[in-house]
Amino acid sequence: MISIKSEREIKLMREAGKLNFLTHEEIKKHVKVGVTTKELDKVAYNFISSHNARPSFLNYEGYPASICVSINDEVVHGIPSNRKIQNGDIVSIDVGVEIHGYHSDAARTYIVGDVKKEVRDLVINTEKALYKGLSKIKEGAKIGDIGAAIEAYAHEHGLSVVEELVGHGVGTNIHEEPDVPNYGKAGSGITLKAGMVLAVEPMLNLGSRYVYLHDDDWTISTDDELPSAHFEHTVVVTKEGYKILTGEINNGEKEN
Ligand code: MF3
Ligand code: CO
Repeated sequence: MISIKSEREIKLMREAGKLNFLTHEEIKKHVKVGVTTKELDKVAYNFISSHNARPSFLNYEGYPASICVSINDEVVHGIPSNRKIQNGDIVSIDVGVEIHGYHSDAARTYIVGDVKKEVRDLVINTEKALYKGLSKIKEGAKIGDIGAAIEAYAHEHGLSVVEELVGHGVGTNIHEEPDVPNYGKAGSGITLKAGMVLAVEPMLNLGSRYVYLHDDDWTISTDDELPSAHFEHTVVVTKEGYKILTGEINNGEKEN
């Protein structure tokens, strides 16, 4: 069952989204050469906890940290460790926040120092692909419209789409129905309705789309060891389009 959120629920989810945005902004200040990914995790944990909220990922199916930090060929679900960020890295950070029983989910990829042009373009185009996908969202559109737009944009820019992981509904659980693939056919899949809340999250690769799971049972990396980027927003479907819950403009004043 795909839940339709009430006005009251959307308000609470907006709060979860706003805190998610602010957590990303706090983490961003610390994304620098020499900082360990565990230090970023601590920044996130402290920030979220000090706002009477909870990191959604902590203990989720046994996940051992508050955020995911995935570097270069790591696609998603990198576990924070003593690994230090280096010049030339791209660093994907995924944050989940729960407050008043509702979750928000958002990811960004940062470019650290001197990164090759083609890798910078990968990062820029992955964020653009997210917005291409979001642009299809409105009541009456199909879930496949989102993935088709993301996939077309990725392929136009010579990038491949990871298919093993998909976006998802968000609400009182971090992962709800429906799946939101980053590939597929326009016009296919379920029909979007106002009040659905979706996390859209393209993971695009510079090389081939294939990935593998590490022995830690969490980290997912590209088979060819080429870099991957990840951007994600949690949005609510409206009659005319969508509203980003995890973005900067988040006070209910500006509507799409
Ligand atoms: N943010 C991830 C997603 O979008 C969830 C991370 S799951 C965790 O699906 F277990 F690593 F926390
Ligand atoms: Co997600």
